[in-house]
Amino acid sequence: MSADPLEIYLEERDLARTLREDVRNGLTATPKSLPPKWFYDARGSELFEEITRLPEYYPTRTERAILDRYADEIAVTTGAKTLIELGSGSSEKTRLLLDAFTRNGNLGTFVPLDVSTSALRQSTSDIAAAYPGLRVRGIVGDFTRHLDRLPTGGRRLVAFLGGTIGNLLPAERGEFLRAMHAALETDDWLLLGVDLVKEQERLVPAYDDAAGVTAEFNRNVLAVVNRELGADFDPSAFDHVAIWDPQREWIEMRLRARRAARIRIDELDLEVDFAAGEEMRTEVSAKFRPEGIAAELSDAGFRVRSRWTDEQNLFALLLAQVV
Ligand code: AVJ
Repeated sequence: MSADPLEIYLEERDLARTLREDVRNGLTATPKSLPPKWFYDARGSELFEEITRLPEYYPTRTERAILDRYADEIAVTTGAKTLIELGSGSSEKTRLLLDAFTRNGNLGTFVPLDVSTSALRQSTSDIAAAYPGLRVRGIVGDFTRHLDRLPTGGRRLVAFLGGTIGNLLPAERGEFLRAMHAALETDDWLLLGVDLVKEQERLVPAYDDAAGVTAEFNRNVLAVVNRELGADFDPSAFDHVAIWDPQREWIEMRLRARRAARIRIDELDLEVDFAAGEEMRTEVSAKFRPEGIAAELSDAGFRVRSRWTDEQNLFALLLAQVV
């Protein structure tokens, strides 16, 4: 079966407007920052796929191993009719779930939601071809804004994998979980993947790999701003920085200006100055303790039914039900 046409809630215009707002707000603030969602143009998505295969970047392969082990149990326990995947990207790990539902359940519909139209076109057509009989409805949207557009009817399982929830700041995370709860109905399910707090010696290399792929991914956001907003950043004039904040228990990625620079952003009619050594935050990737995230889920109205992790306690999957 071929995939349904994409449902587009994030028009080019809407995306362009939020990018302009984010860049203006972020570059005129002290300290400067840019939200991580702007990493993922076609090049950035490709670089992220490359990151997931790096020896230092353990989250993807660890989560895949956990999913592989428990996918059948997830299919049986949830009995979902509709699987919704937030921030689905290439939907590669989703296949483990789809295979489990094929063996155990009677899943009828798969709904990937992502900001990237190009990634969704690819994944919806690949998945529709691989799972005949499955209805595939891709939604172009932002998981912090379009949860009210999720399809209704039939028991739903929302999968939010990869540790992407760690990109939200604590207040945004609470808001997100409450909005998720509001969008779901009693007995619907949430499958959440979170990266766990661990020693800095393991965390930092995962965000500062020897081959320099993460550095290139980080600098790619400057290329996005150059192309979309007519800015004149020289990406090579910025160093990649990844630091672990032990108080807030998150990794922060930054770009550090090698020398003083004045950046012109034509489409915003804006000029911003960077001092030599000035750092701009480009991503927060929060790490979790299993009890902490379970408490956040209960506060938002979920009951945690299962918590699974790997032998080394690197990553956790939580299965929670709406009560
Ligand atoms: C896609 C948000 C889960 O935080 O680990 C990878 C993004 N950034 N390397 C993460 C990322 C740098 C990734 N998430």
